[in-house]
Amino acid sequence: MNNKNAGITFERASKGDVPFIMATERTDGYDAFVGRWDKARHLAALDDRNYAYFIAREADDPVAFTIVRDWASPERATCVKRIVVSRPGNGVGRRLLRAVVDTIFGDTHAHRVWLGVFPENARARRVYEAIGFKAGGIARGSAFLRRRPSRRADHVGAQAGMGGVSATRTPPRAGSHTARARYAPRW
Ligand SMILES: CC(C)(COP(=O)(O)OP(=O)(O)OC[C@H]1O[C@@H](n2cnc3c(N)ncnc32)[C@H](O)[C@@H]1OP(=O)(O)O)[C@@H](O)C(=O)NCCC(=O)NCCS
Repeated sequence: MNNKNAGITFERASKGDVPFIMATERTDGYDAFVGRWDKARHLAALDDRNYAYFIAREADDPVAFTIVRDWASPERATCVKRIVVSRPGNGVGRRLLRAVVDTIFGDTHAHRVWLGVFPENARARRVYEAIGFKAGGIARGSAFLRRRPSRRADHVGAQAGMGGVSATRTPPRAGSHTARARYAPRW
């Protein structure tokens, strides 16, 4: 994927993007919504074919990233592990996620893209629903966060479980050369 969308360029991230990725996932207030990895973990994931990192740039400056897990997995179910923008509310997240979902379905044999989101993350849910993700239920206690400033570990329990949100597409029709780039909006 390397395309332009209203001045935004999307492409695979490289190791040189790790400082931006680490700084952006550490934005004040984001710790309630997304995890944070240290440099070693990001570098290891970038070297791991199970992961695919994508970055959005505006005039060559990075403005958002997403981490995809289970890329081209034999199970054909791929997870959007993390998506973070540096300046929320400008439409970048929606465009990046749409482009990444299209890329997953276009470049791999995935038949399902899924992600987890905290139920109270209304902004993210708005974006996911606009793209076509459907809430699939609550997975209680499926996330483990270390919230600042106490660094106390909060186990996300019954009140704040992760909503399983998934998207599916119809399988490609045999013989259709365009089928892999298409997914049905019946989610
Ligand atoms: C979630 C995130 C990736 C979305 O990207 P974004 O660029 O901010 O999203 P967009 O600007 O494309 O769209 C935001 C939408 O949410 C709406 N919105 C903003 N604040 C909202 C709120 N408090 N409640 C409900 N909707 C809200 C906006 O109006 C907009 O919808 P609209 O275009 O239909 O008007 C980004 O906000 C982000 O990085 N948040 C912090 C990290 C995070 O939560 N990541 C996702 C974890 S699952």
